[in-house]
Amino acid sequence: MVRITELTRIELESKGIEPLRFNRKRTNGYIRGFNLSGVIRGLICIRNRGCRGKAPGNRDPGVSDTPRPEYNELSYSPKRKRTLKVTTTSERISKLTSNHHLSMTPNPRVIYAKSPGDGAPIPGEHLVSDTSRTIDLDSVPLNGGFLTKTLVLSPEPYMRDRMRDPSIPSYCPTFVLGEPIIGPGVVVVVRSEKEGVNVGDYMYGQTTWEAYCVQPYIEGRVRWDPKNWAPYTVNLDDAVPLRVVPNPNGAFPLTTYCNLLGTPGLTAFVGFEALAEAKAGETIFVSSGASGVGSVVIQLAKLKGLKVITSVGSEAKISYVRSIGADIAFNYKTRDYSLALNEHGPIDIYWDNVGGPALEAAIDATNRLGRIICCGSVADYNVAPEKRYGIKNTTYIFRKSLIIRGLLLADVDPSYTGRFFAEVPALVAQGKIVGQEFVTDGIENAPQAFVNMLKDGNDAVGKPVIAVAQS
Ligand SMILES: NC(=O)c1ccc[n+]([C@@H]2O[C@H](COP(=O)([O-])OP(=O)(O)OC[C@H]3O[C@@H](n4cnc5c(N)ncnc54)[C@H](OP(=O)(O)O)[C@@H]3O)[C@@H](O)[C@H]2O)c1
Repeated sequence: MVRITELTRIELESKGIEPLRFNRKRTNGYIRGFNLSGVIRGLICIRNRGCRGKAPGNRDPGVSDTPRPEYNELSYSPKRKRTLKVTTTSERISKLTSNHHLSMTPNPRVIYAKSPGDGAPIPGEHLVSDTSRTIDLDSVPLNGGFLTKTLVLSPEPYMRDRMRDPSIPSYCPTFVLGEPIIGPGVVVVVRSEKEGVNVGDYMYGQTTWEAYCVQPYIEGRVRWDPKNWAPYTVNLDDAVPLRVVPNPNGAFPLTTYCNLLGTPGLTAFVGFEALAEAKAGETIFVSSGASGVGSVVIQLAKLKGLKVITSVGSEAKISYVRSIGADIAFNYKTRDYSLALNEHGPIDIYWDNVGGPALEAAIDATNRLGRIICCGSVADYNVAPEKRYGIKNTTYIFRKSLIIRGLLLADVDPSYTGRFFAEVPALVAQGKIVGQEFVTDGIENAPQAFVNMLKDGNDAVGKPVIAVAQS
């Protein structure tokens, strides 16, 4: 009799299939030398082109891992595949294995493989597309949580900070080496054991960058202990948790949740409403005006009656920001920040997405009692600290009584978040705030999309998003 291992039995029984017993004689000797679990695993590997494996005893029944070498060998052995086709019990074997094939689904993901240090991350070296995993959607244990399918992912500049050396303090924890990265995305619930989360619900928030994920996710998540982090570190994964969002039913694309109705829109709304103290007739300068955040700030400022000056990195983006209301747009790659602001300023408010030379020029151009909102410094994210632009005019902060405010979503009065969800979806529905996304297809292209998002002056207009799957 061919031995059926306990693991195989569990797998088959979980499918409601009673394991078969094969007599070597009846099978005409064709499966002699194999054990049936190896055959079935081999076929699974043929189907999935490789799976990953811990020792079987350590393996989660719903998740396959790196294959042991003999499975790889089997999966590419034409002789063995042909042999199986002519066995007398081939129909039954094939029925069993095809049932299993159906239940094992590829689960591609994006792994944080290595810190890029101070430089730009490189796809395939620091962020790696990993297609070796599969998942059994029907039987993977949920442990009281829920299983989600990823639909859209949102590469965002702050995620670069999570790729730093963990010894460098910052406001967010680092990613975990060897595990999937975490970032904002839209998912749909496939199975659920959690009250209040139902199959078919759409959710937006922090999720692992893999096609399917049992939530709450564990892999890739820092075991959060405030004692181990700098005092001002924020547990971002809990700050923007997955939450159920309305099904747009075709009224707008799901990508909108990663743009106008997600972190970029929320940051722009909360920062502008809570910190800008904007008054009709004032002038605001918004750097990186075509970014997700910048494009919403421009539109909120126009709704309030402000004059808007903005900087972008390409001619295509100049057309875009003009189309959403910017009065003056210039390309900082071809026009110096100071020259442009001297010509079109002075300004009352500066929304800083860039830092460095943009911030220095804005300090010069800001009126007395002006407000500067430091939202990000994307010009610094791939630059070593000693090579960053040194701002030389900080003396004007006191000379002009400027108010400079750092913005971190987690620190702003939560009532502004409530206002965002009450007011902004309506503005979006009425077309008073519009957005554009630049869509990259396929999670396998996510590492490249992430790296492109951090490049200055790239021509791709719109908030970058990655379309992983249709609902
Ligand atoms: N504080 C918070 O809570 C918070 C939350 C979300 C985002 N943010 C910050 O808001 C800013 C925009 O984020 P987002 O998600 O809206 O970004 P995004 O849509 O991904 O756009 C990023 C843009 O940054 C620009 N850029 C890259 N390198 C640059 C450089 N050296 N100089 C000038 N511009 C550069 C590029 O546009 P160009 O082609 O125009 O150069 C790029 O398309 C970032 O600084 C981000 O860190 C802060």
